[in-house]
This record gives sequence, C-alpha cells and structure tokens, in this order.
Amino acid sequence: MCARISNLRNTCGLFIHKTPGIKLRKFQNNTAAMSTIEDAKKLAAYQAVDDHVKNDYIIGIGSGSTVVYAVERLAQKVQKEKLSVLCVPTSFQARQLVVKHRLPLTDLDVSPKLDVCIDGADEVDSRLTLIKGGGGCLLQEKIVASCANKLIIIADYTKNSNKLGEQYKKGIPIEVIPMAYTPIQSHLESIYKGQFALRMAVNKAGPVVTDNGNFILDWKEFDQNLDWAKVNQGIMMIPGVVETGLFVKMVERAYFGMPDGSVKVQDA
Ligand code: A5P
Repeated sequence: MCARISNLRNTCGLFIHKTPGIKLRKFQNNTAAMSTIEDAKKLAAYQAVDDHVKNDYIIGIGSGSTVVYAVERLAQKVQKEKLSVLCVPTSFQARQLVVKHRLPLTDLDVSPKLDVCIDGADEVDSRLTLIKGGGGCLLQEKIVASCANKLIIIADYTKNSNKLGEQYKKGIPIEVIPMAYTPIQSHLESIYKGQFALRMAVNKAGPVVTDNGNFILDWKEFDQNLDWAKVNQGIMMIPGVVETGLFVKMVERAYFGMPDGSVKVQDA
C-alpha cells in the first residue's frame, strides 16, 4: 500500500492524514461513521487550505461544489489568523463565493502572478492529469491555474482514478466558439473515437453557454489509453476551439477526502 496514517510521505508520494478541526459523525458504539461524499470534499478542502494558504498570498479560487468548502475554510482562517489575502476567481460562481465570505477580490489585470490556485476536478488520473469543466468553467480555471505558482486539487475519493474515463462518464469538455461547433464536431470525429455531444442546458432551451459566451462539446467514450498531452495539443489546433478540460502536468498536489475520514495526498 502506498499510504499510511501519518503526515510523512512514503516512497510512492502518497500520504494519508487526519484533518484537525473536522469531526466525523459517530455510530452509537462510538466508531467513526463512513464519511459521505460531502464529508470527503470538506476534509480535502480544509486540509488543502490549511497546508497552502499563508499571509499576503494571492489565491486562485476554483469552481464547483468542493471549492465551496475551501472558501469557507479560507474565510475562517483569514478571520482567525488575521491574514491578508487576495482572491482571483475562476468563474461567476467563484466570484459569488468570494463576495459571500467578504474576502478581498482581485483579477489578473491587477494580480497576474498567484501564489496558489485551489480547485476541484472531475477526475484525476495516476499522473495527476485532470478532467475539468463539468461545471463549464474550464477556460478561466486553466488561465488562472497557469498564473499560479502551484495548482492544488481538492476532491472526494470518487474522483481518484488510475486512468481518465475510468470513473467519470460525462466526458472531456471542449469549449468552442458557437459558430464553429458543427465543423469542430466533425473534425474531432474524424480524428478520435467516441462521441462529441453539444452540452444542453437543463432549465433553459438550447445549449449551455459558458461564462465566456461559448458552447461546450463533451467528448464521451474516448480511448482511455491516449497520450493526453498530445491529444490536448491536437484539439487546440482546431480553429474555433477555445480550451479543453484536459489539465496536463499542471498539478502540484491533489488532496482526496477518503471514505474512512482520512485525506489521501498525491504529489506530481
Ligand atoms: C468546473 O467547471 C469544474 O472544473 C469543477 O472544478 C469540477 O467539475 C469539480 O467540481 P466539483 O467540486 O463540484 O466536483
């Protein structure tokens, strides 16, 4: 096993530890309950914020449901330790979270160099390659992450895969310029196996429109053994493609909240 209960890293670059300040619910016989997915997200988020946020940091704030816990912990830490931080959001949702917690906002015009970016992921493979963009925020997430000294990923255990596509079945998002989505779809189908589906909105007729006014094609049923760096480069060459949800060699460390209430840490 490449994990043990301590804060020390073993030879596989993994370690597991308990997050101070998080209590698991107890069964009547006083044993810790299996944590829910929400518990797991919170454990990972709290631990990552505790480990990576310092005074005077400029912090990229990712998007999605796990980041909600990271911002909650950040607000607690800022208040308790009287920290001075600035936050760069990666989406409308992230901006709302920062505003809700009364944390100071900035942007890449004013603060183009970030100390850390903390974000969620849809799937993380054994090399810390990510699928992101399940919430449609991949473009700003990738831009902000690329401006940070380190990208730290927080996730529950269901996101921890050996290969991309093993657990996450909603596909790899590709953000495209609306007028080009049909030719891009045909182009992609001529190169790669699988389906490229225009993401449709749920409470609105028509497609999902991203924070940047674009559409998303979700690439489903892809070959799990592809070279993701090459694939990313290839897709980015197609005119009208704005960004892919493949994050290759960008992550420094991933924190996974585990069912037993521990946090598994994996380094690049
Ligand atoms: C947003 O577009 C995504 O990249 C999210 O970061 C990712 O979907 C993780 O979201 P959850 O934390 O909600 O799983």
